[in-house]
Amino acid sequence: MPIIKKIAEWLEDRTGIGDAIRRLAKHPVPPGSKWAYVFGSATLFCLVLQVITGVALSLMYQPSSSDAYRSLQFITDEARFGRLLRGIHYFGASGMIVMVGAHMIRVYIMAAYKYPREMTWVTGVFLFILTVAMGFTGQLLRWDSNGVWSSVVAAEQLGRIPLIGRPAARLLLGGDTLGSHSLSRFFAYHVFIVPAFIFLLVGFHLFLVLRNGISEPPKAERPVDKRTYRQWYKDMLAKEGFLFGLMPPGAT
Ligand code: HEM
Repeated sequence: MPIIKKIAEWLEDRTGIGDAIRRLAKHPVPPGSKWAYVFGSATLFCLVLQVITGVALSLMYQPSSSDAYRSLQFITDEARFGRLLRGIHYFGASGMIVMVGAHMIRVYIMAAYKYPREMTWVTGVFLFILTVAMGFTGQLLRWDSNGVWSSVVAAEQLGRIPLIGRPAARLLLGGDTLGSHSLSRFFAYHVFIVPAFIFLLVGFHLFLVLRNGISEPPKAERPVDKRTYRQWYKDMLAKEGFLFGLMPPGAT
């Protein structure tokens, strides 16, 4: 339809989004990037899933000590697809932790944290901490004995750190003891503060992945030389690179 084509052309001219997506889709990766390389994308998938299901849950969840537990019971037993939504969000959280762990182990084993990807690793370490923080802050939102006591134990442990322990535990709970004020605080951590840092860091992490390219599997007799690596990587990609998700040349 000409009107839709015209709108698409106008948008493309003003934003260049289509061109950016085309270039991203054609971003080549080194030969040898196989199954072990999928865990970063799998983590990203879990993150998107958690955001979508989390936003849907927040439409019905009530973050107050008198209503939180009941609102979750309502979501599970009465709301349409509520049980499924909660299930996906619950297992998605574990999935994300498992995937981020596998991704981190793969990066470590393949020494992909070395030059020039050190900052990708550093941002990754913060992402790992934030992913665990999401799991932790989400627990209390259930407002059941399991969630409450695990938060009490974590605050007790935090309080034992010399010098900063007590103020950090107070900051975490919003006071000296865990109460209804802690629930609203954990809700803010879980839906605003931690996700905001995750979005910023994931954006930067992916920018670095694109800027520095995905690492090639390491070879014992081929050490990384900072003076020649970037040119070597560019030449190698031009010769042997293939599109991520497609079979590398010569693979069966
Ligand atoms: C929310 C968490 C994370 C997301 C969504 C994410 C996503 C990604 C994606 C999509 C890639 C490119 C494909 C791949 O190599 O798997 C990547 C690469 C990378 N990630 Fe992550 N990541 C996360 C956490 C981490 C953690 C915890 C670390 C390590 C501490 C890490 C370190 C790296 C490094 C060094 C690379 C470059 C790998 C290479 O070039 O071979 N990331 N990440």
